[in-house]
Formats: sequence, structure tokens, C-alpha cells
Amino acid sequence: MQSVCLSSFIFTKMPAISASAPGKTILFGEHAVVYGSPAIAIPISNLRVKAIIQPNIESQDSVVAFNNGTNRQKFNIHALPPDDLIRGIVSVFEEQTHRKLSPFTLTIHSEIPIAAGLGSSAAVAVAVTRALGEFSGLKLNGNEINEFAYKSEIVQHGTPSGIDNSVITYEKPIYFEKGMPIQTITIKNKLHFVLADSGERTLTKKVVDFVRESMEKDHTNYQNLLFSISDICRIAKNAIMAGDAHVIGKLMIQNHTLLQKMGVSSQKLDKLVDLSLQAGAFGAKLCGGGQGGFMVSICDKETVDTVTDQLRKISSCVIKASIGGLE
Ligand code: PMV
Repeated sequence: MQSVCLSSFIFTKMPAISASAPGKTILFGEHAVVYGSPAIAIPISNLRVKAIIQPNIESQDSVVAFNNGTNRQKFNIHALPPDDLIRGIVSVFEEQTHRKLSPFTLTIHSEIPIAAGLGSSAAVAVAVTRALGEFSGLKLNGNEINEFAYKSEIVQHGTPSGIDNSVITYEKPIYFEKGMPIQTITIKNKLHFVLADSGERTLTKKVVDFVRESMEKDHTNYQNLLFSISDICRIAKNAIMAGDAHVIGKLMIQNHTLLQKMGVSSQKLDKLVDLSLQAGAFGAKLCGGGQGGFMVSICDKETVDTVTDQLRKISSCVIKASIGGLE
């Protein structure tokens, strides 16, 4: 009895464990990356997911609560559907570390719009895995966190390329090719981006399945589109290292045209792209799975506010982001 009281005392005194992870945007190569082409992504460090873990003293259940201001409902993690992301993250963690977690309450605060191409699920996977690592007294390194997050994404998405979990884990711009070592990119000058929400939502898995089916029906055409995207990506890597926003912009427009041909854009995304260009952006494209979600445009310091203001006229969520140079 005494030892139970003592352990309760230790648990209540144990401070909450907190870990976070950023959002991301893919600048080049989404969809093609699933088939082995290269792709380039950057973290969006001003959009974050925070995971907080506290031990459960009075219950044997582990629960999750999503704190988005209104929804404070708690879910028993082990009673969630097998393809649920949170259940997947916890199961992957227990399998990979060969340990059973003691009961806990996980609270997730997220600033990243869901199913919008900004890496919300991968950011949850990375933040929760980090917090679980600390909760169980393990010092997981970046590679382990990245691998656990990738395995958790498989539970939900089926065939993720691995780019989302990688850029989010390392929180650096990356050049990514499946099966190859991840290359981080150092950007010479500060680059300015404006992201805008189309307001439409299609699950990434659904769009990836759509591309796969289209490719089966029209193999040569899709193969050529993938080759063109790969070429753009290779050229873009040098432009990004040099911090050349003009060239990056031109290549983004070309990449968007190819994504349109793949059938993954939408009228609303195209409208956001056009409006960005009219407002002075160097280039713009859809980002992530597409058929909705966000668009990303690249601007210079002088035009970023004009582009933002114009996009706000037709989008309910517009986000500024920058990366590179002396940070
Ligand atoms: O929509 P997001 O943020 O999950 O990005 C998906 C990117 C794809 O290339 C379409 C899929 C993948 O696994 O890389």
C-alpha cells in the first residue's frame, strides 16, 4: 500500500513531458517521389504540433485528447480503429522499443491544418514519438524517430514515400529520394513563401490511389510526366542552394503544370496560383497530395505582403513562411 502511495506521489510530481514538430511544404516532386523520383521539401517552423504526456495514476487506460479549443473529448487509444494514426504511433513505438508503455494521457495541440498538404499527420507522428521516447526514459536519436514516424504513417496512408516524416524530423530543407541517404540543403539567401488554403480537402491516400490508377491506364504519358518532374527537381536543388527565388519560381510554375496534367490540381488551386502570380509572386504551385489543400508561392521581401493581402481575398487561411540565409 505504501509503495502505491509513493509511486502515485512520484507520478504526480513528474512534470508533463512536451515535444513538438513543425509542418512542411513540398516545393518540388510530390507524387513523383512515390515512384522513386527526387523531391524537395522545407519545414514550416512557425506552424507546429505539440504533444504533451502525463502519466495516468488512477486509470489503466491510455487516452488522447485533441486540444483545438473546442473539442476536449478524450479517446481510449487502444479502442481506436486499427488504422488510426495515434493508435498506430503508440503500437509502432511499443513494437520497435519492445516495451509496454504505462498508462498516460496524451494531449495534442496542433496549428497545422489537417489533410491540407502541410504534413499534419507526420508532424503528429514525430511530436508524439518524441514525447513517448522521453516518457519511457529512452534517448531516441533522429534516425529512430524518423523511422518510427514513417512506420506510423504506413498504418494510416499505406504507401508514404517518407519525405514528410524526414523533413519534419530533421526540420531542415531536404532533397529526398526513396532508398537514398537524405540530403539536407543549405540555402544561401532567405526565401519568402506564402501558402494559401483552397478550402477543399481530399485525403492524400485517395489522391495517391487516383494517380496509381491513372498511371495503370495511361502508363507512357504518366511516365513522361514523372521524368519531367525529376528533371525539374534536379535543377531546382541548385537554385534553392543559391537562394535564387526567380529560378525557383519558374520551376514551381512548370511543376504545377505537370501536376495539373497528372490530374491532382483543382480549379480553386489554379485560381490561387494565378492570383499569386498576378500579385507579383515569382512562382506558385499546389503542395502535397493536391485535389485541394494548400498552394505555395515564392515571393521576394517586397512583394510578400501584397501577395498575402491578395490571397486573403479568396482564401480563409493564408500563411507566411521563410527559410534560409542567416537564421
Ligand atoms: O498531402 P501530404 O502533405 O501528405 O503530402 C503527400 C505527398 C505525396 O508525394 C503525394 C505522397 C508521399 O507519400 O510522398
